[in-house]
Amino acid sequence: MRRFDGQTVVDHVSLQIAPGQVTCLLGPSGCGKSTTLRMIAGVDMQDEGTIHVDGKLVCDTVFRVPPERRSIGLMFQDFALFPHLSVGENVSFGLKGGRSEKRATVERLLDRVGLRHYIDHYPHHLSGGEQQRVALARALAPQPKIMLMDEPFSGLDNRLRDGIRDETLDLLKEEGAAVLLVTHEPEEAMRMADEIALMRDGRIVQQGAPYNIYNAPADRDAVAFFSDVNVLEGKVQGALVDTPFGRFLAPGVADGGAVEIVFRPQHVSIDFDRAGKGPNPTEIAGTPARGVVQRARFMGSESLVEFVMDHDGQKLIATVPNVFLPKPGTPMWLSLRRDRCFVFPVIGKN
Ligand SMILES: Nc1ncnc2c1ncn2[C@@H]1O[C@H](COP(=O)(O)OP(=O)(O)OP(=O)(O)O)[C@@H](O)[C@H]1O
Ligand SMILES: [Mg+2]
Repeated sequence: MRRFDGQTVVDHVSLQIAPGQVTCLLGPSGCGKSTTLRMIAGVDMQDEGTIHVDGKLVCDTVFRVPPERRSIGLMFQDFALFPHLSVGENVSFGLKGGRSEKRATVERLLDRVGLRHYIDHYPHHLSGGEQQRVALARALAPQPKIMLMDEPFSGLDNRLRDGIRDETLDLLKEEGAAVLLVTHEPEEAMRMADEIALMRDGRIVQQGAPYNIYNAPADRDAVAFFSDVNVLEGKVQGALVDTPFGRFLAPGVADGGAVEIVFRPQHVSIDFDRAGKGPNPTEIAGTPARGVVQRARFMGSESLVEFVMDHDGQKLIATVPNVFLPKPGTPMWLSLRRDRCFVFPVIGKN
């Protein structure tokens, strides 16, 4: 736990990271990700709680192993290289041992990031992406047990970033460190992580494999963090909620309790209106409901269509692969992938 000026910014966070695995600490700006990382690194100290590495206590509120003796490699967004040292000297900076031993480590890692020919160059001769790879080699050179990375790719342009992310991931896996990567970008977490810890307001709200976080989200915000969402509101009667799209189960919610049915735009399918009629109800798609197109936009690999629903004027969004641009005002029928709808109790309104 960590407080600043009486405000708790990291609250009962419990995280375990495993060797050879990448864990992503994912959450919106200001939720406490960097503060968590800094406490693990030892450059900030927690107000309560303990930190262990390899089963050994490295820090509680009294005892504290200094950062440089925690076997932790660090890489931050502004991964400044030493400008007055060559690439090779940068990588060997924190290394112990004899000259030839150090040289071998430096060459091996520079080889691995494809930059051995730059060994005697200075950082300002390198592009941003190349500097980033040198910084990675430098962080990995002392063979840390843990690599802590705080938004290390955010200074790179988009096209460069994907390649470097993949390369970095390969190298981290080979080196076998336990990696904790902080990011506020869900795509980055999905791409890199074996495990995602979703953080909000100083707490970890859900932790699991990317697939589970995406497909079994803990709450509405966890859905919304990864994509646009549609929400239907309803009241529970006999563990069921009636909606224009048919009934949904709401197990465990008392009668009169408010629930939200949350679903992603890609789980809405649309059909043309045929003389006021839509498709027949099915078990998977439930009852279709009618709306009119308000706006349709082409996004590249998919089209995004916004509807105003007949039943209550509510707005819902559907995405359709490729180009599908119906005119505003076109009546259409929407059906939901019912197995991809999440029913959440509305806390505070029950
Ligand atoms: N040294 C400090 N003194 C006072 N408040 C701080 C300090 N460091 C961080 N905070 C506050 O703690 C909260 C969490 O900050 P933190 O840097 O951990 O967020 P973050 O999740 O890393 O955000 P971002 O994605 O923007 O980097 C913020 O509200 C921040 O203002
Ligand atoms: Mg941060």
